[in-house]
Amino acid sequence: MAMETGLIVHPYMRPERTARQTFDWCVQQAVEADKIGFDSIMFSEHASQRWENIPNPELIIAAAARQTERIKFAPMAHILPHHNPAKLAIMVGWLSQILEGRYFLGVGAGAYPQSTYIHGIKNGEDTQFTNEMVRESLEIMERIWKREPFFYEGRFWNAGYPEELHGEEGDDQHMLADLSPWGGAPEIAVTGFSAKSPSMKFAGERGFRPMSIFSGLDALKTHWDTYSTAAEANGHVADRARYHVSQTVFVADTDKEAKRLVMEGPIGYCFERYLIPIWWRFGMMDGFIKDAGADRADVDLEWVVDNVFCVGSPDTVVDKINTLFEASGGWGTLQVESHDYYDDPAPWFNSLAMIQKEVAPKISLPVSVTS
Ligand SMILES: Cc1cc2nc3c(=O)[nH]c(=O)nc-3n(C[C@H](O)[C@H](O)[C@H](O)COP(=O)(O)O)c2cc1C
Repeated sequence: MAMETGLIVHPYMRPERTARQTFDWCVQQAVEADKIGFDSIMFSEHASQRWENIPNPELIIAAAARQTERIKFAPMAHILPHHNPAKLAIMVGWLSQILEGRYFLGVGAGAYPQSTYIHGIKNGEDTQFTNEMVRESLEIMERIWKREPFFYEGRFWNAGYPEELHGEEGDDQHMLADLSPWGGAPEIAVTGFSAKSPSMKFAGERGFRPMSIFSGLDALKTHWDTYSTAAEANGHVADRARYHVSQTVFVADTDKEAKRLVMEGPIGYCFERYLIPIWWRFGMMDGFIKDAGADRADVDLEWVVDNVFCVGSPDTVVDKINTLFEASGGWGTLQVESHDYYDDPAPWFNSLAMIQKEVAPKISLPVSVTS
């Protein structure tokens, strides 16, 4: 079994992009990734960030559904505290039916308190609180997907499912629409980020897929420990083949060319202006500094490209990923972080094609079931 390939589209578009440009670039990437043979593509959901300007991933997924054949789609993630769970359960069910199963559901608590504030929640930075909302929301969604009568009065929301009435033969008024997901329930993936991640614990307890942003070896280790301990305590197998980790990966014919294209192109621009400051703010940079045995004063874009990203020729990137897998235990799907190649997609699509054909098949996958 080869490592699976995925894209994750946040989408890190330059602030001056229009909604139409962002939307078109997202759909274009789905179509191309499908042709190249990527296994999955994820779109994030943000209501506040200028650089992360997808408020409704489901609109992109629906648009791309008709132009793709085999790639699987996921919102990564629907931010459950921001949604009415009944409305979301029905939308997710219908969309997974439209995709005839090429869909899985990513859920999260929300990265940015400003976005949570827009949705009427003032304490968005309290992740314990937002995670409690995630749990209640998902409980409601799962009950709606079962299509059995209930009425639930919760801490955050009320919802129910009605009795189906039985009328006269030939009178269809009583029939309820079946808007449950394709196959009954969708596969669910949960995003984890913080060191003591409540989300990873939740994913383990429920046997959902875990997903982390690469934030250094300690963070990956803690996430996997939290996930696998909770999974095993609840009778689930903790299988690293189901683990998704997102990372910045860029491949070109030579190391020199790959590094130049990253430093001088959209990835470098985005990191200088947006992601390097975010990495400092969220503490991710400290993990990378520790892994490299570096000094804070060493950190600039070039240091990040050399020490954190997987950038280079196919052979170099294979070595970098295999080294990471050896140190961390590895994961089943590499979810490549997408960037704004709207003006000139060729280097980006070349890189994705090389990742698919020349990198993924040479990665030594973890033994799928851990101790
Ligand atoms: C791969 C990945 C994707 C994410 N996508 C989003 C997103 O689209 N929107 C958002 O507000 N937060 C997103 N987040 C952040 C989560 O909503 C949430 O802040 C985080 O997973 C909470 O993790 P914790 O329980 O480990 O603290 C993402 C996190 C990860 C790891």
